[in-house]
Amino acid sequence: AKIQEHEFVIQATPVKRLCNTHNTITVNGQFPGPTLEVNNGDTLVVKVTNKARYNVTIHWHGIRQMRTGWADGPEFVTQCPIRPGESYTYRFTIQGQEGTLWWHAHSSWLRATVYGALIIHPREGEAYPFTKPKRETPILLGEWWDANPIDVVRQATQTGAAPNISDAYTINGQPGDLYKCSSQGSTIVPIDSGETNLLRVINAALNQPLFFKVANHKLTVVGADASYLKPFTTNVIMLGPGQTTDVLIQGDQPPTRYYMAARAYQSAQNAPFDNTTTTAILEYKSAPCPAKGSSIKPVMPSLPAYNDTNTVTAFSKSFRSPRKVEVPAEIDENLFFTIGLGLNNCPKNFNANQCQGPNGTRFTASMNNVSFVLPNNVSILQAHHLGVQGVFTTDFPTQPPVKFDYTGNVSRSLWQPVPGTKVTKLKFGSRVQIVLQDTSIVTPENHPIHLHGYDFYIVAEGFGNFDPNKDTSKFNLIDPPMRNTVAVPVNGWAVIRFVADNPGAWIMHCHLDVHIGWGLATVLLVDNGVGLLQSIEPPPEDLPLC
Ligand code: C2O
Repeated sequence: AKIQEHEFVIQATPVKRLCNTHNTITVNGQFPGPTLEVNNGDTLVVKVTNKARYNVTIHWHGIRQMRTGWADGPEFVTQCPIRPGESYTYRFTIQGQEGTLWWHAHSSWLRATVYGALIIHPREGEAYPFTKPKRETPILLGEWWDANPIDVVRQATQTGAAPNISDAYTINGQPGDLYKCSSQGSTIVPIDSGETNLLRVINAALNQPLFFKVANHKLTVVGADASYLKPFTTNVIMLGPGQTTDVLIQGDQPPTRYYMAARAYQSAQNAPFDNTTTTAILEYKSAPCPAKGSSIKPVMPSLPAYNDTNTVTAFSKSFRSPRKVEVPAEIDENLFFTIGLGLNNCPKNFNANQCQGPNGTRFTASMNNVSFVLPNNVSILQAHHLGVQGVFTTDFPTQPPVKFDYTGNVSRSLWQPVPGTKVTKLKFGSRVQIVLQDTSIVTPENHPIHLHGYDFYIVAEGFGNFDPNKDTSKFNLIDPPMRNTVAVPVNGWAVIRFVADNPGAWIMHCHLDVHIGWGLATVLLVDNGVGLLQSIEPPPEDLPLC
């Protein structure tokens, strides 16, 4: 195994998209940021220097960070932000994970432009469990605003309204030629005729689950979230923000140009969304020279309708681990977390401008009716480590969550979550089950729930109210898929299981960034009870303080 060192400089860089040039926050002047490629077992050392005017942190999405929680990255959870002019070095080892992950800023909405692929190859000398591809290409799906994304979220926070929707989706940073002023510089993805090619698809969009399809080509899914899957073939895939999917694609079509395209899967009803389509061009390497020019119009795939939940359900039902896995059969901690939106009444000391949600309310979101509030003067991991009192409470979710009919009309009082910094304490080594239930308050929605520091098995998903007496019979305890982000079905539920074998403070949140800001999060605090330093490495000397 190797030690790989990298430097990331966070800086404002002019980037031209959709007819205008924008001063954009990037890493090393690149948008999207650099692709990191490692082998399983390698150690990554990344020195991040902040030369921008915003506080920033970097999160290594999906990396388990076994006993290296200080390198996880979410601001005010495992570290204070890196302030302008300062640096912090993230150091961690890849242990047992193979496939596609990514990295992104974990402060405000900076991840709109601060993100990149993190590719983990098998250990040196080891092979993929599928045909070795001739060519591998990361496909980063993103979301672009003409306005500064920080201003977009600031405006929403100040007014209590929903933030403005994006102006384009992107593939590897480019909107593609269906958008204005974008015919130059479409992303070209090369493919070899007669060969197997691997696409590593990442949904880095801030707020939108996306369908992805390639014209005239089938996709064989072989992995997701850096875990291998039993291969299955499909025409279209769907990724919630945060999720990754590895697909094999055969160069078995006439060697010309084809579009690959991504567009919204929008499960929320009556909510405005960006209904545009981003494209990149799949180009056969063997294509005759003119094909490289813009004279040959690529073939366009037909994507599912924006509200096609049936396609999403069929797709997610195809996910299996490649073989029998060790899912905890017995459970020590059985948790039930509701996930959903809310509308808080205008507080007394606010004025009407600050309450521009529906009927003079403010948008909010919660787990078990608590809107998670990040601390602002210390991180949760540090407060726990140093025994600082008053930063968080551990009474989540001890009060049994109010159960109600999640498919029916809900009393207005449940539309108003209460703010709090409440964490869930888990005993090191305990076997945990979490039921995630969409409340459908304000609008039913497919929420991509992401857990830091862990991979988990998704043992079941369904629609309506989770019923512990009936639905346990549907659990797959043989070969469920392993992931770090579960797209909880709209108007439905998902059940995940894992062993709490990684001590630390791990945020679990909706990966729609608009929902994090509104409080759809909690923190799992995993401790062996003999003091954190017995169980994890000491904080690095350059750990940013608040
Ligand atoms: Cu990619 Cu906390 O997330």
